[in-house]
Amino acid sequence: AVRRYSENVHEHFQHPRNVGSFKKGEEHVGTAIVGKAACGDVIKLQVKIEEGVIKDAKFKTFGCGSAIASSSYATELIKGKTPEEAMQLKNTDIADYLKLPPVKIHCSLLAEDAVRHAIEDYQKKYPGVTEATIAADEGPTSHQQQMGAA
Ligand code: FES
Repeated sequence: AVRRYSENVHEHFQHPRNVGSFKKGEEHVGTAIVGKAACGDVIKLQVKIEEGVIKDAKFKTFGCGSAIASSSYATELIKGKTPEEAMQLKNTDIADYLKLPPVKIHCSLLAEDAVRHAIEDYQKKYPGVTEATIAADEGPTSHQQQMGAA
């Protein structure tokens, strides 16, 4: 395979899904703004969670094409999932799908960080709301929050 931008990157770059942001004051929204100091790129990502499910997600990326494609794909992946499922999203899922070259792996990590932080922000704003889903899930969910700030 040739190391260059894959069709999937192009597709998500040319036609990014879920670009934008929710209205100010909109309820049940968690927001994350994450950035990479190394390249200066920033992703703002928001999730709207209702009845224990991510009903909608939006993003704005001030960054490279891979960050845009990663965010776009990430928002597609997490819609319809529970916050707990979405938390399992790995940057490698994104990087593999988009076939990101090694120098662009951090772009997918940024998208993963954005998803986690947006969900955590929601959970902070609406504590207890997701507990029902956690209990209904596989059982005890340890808090796997890694506060790995960039
Ligand atoms: Fe930094 Fe892509 S080059 S997010």
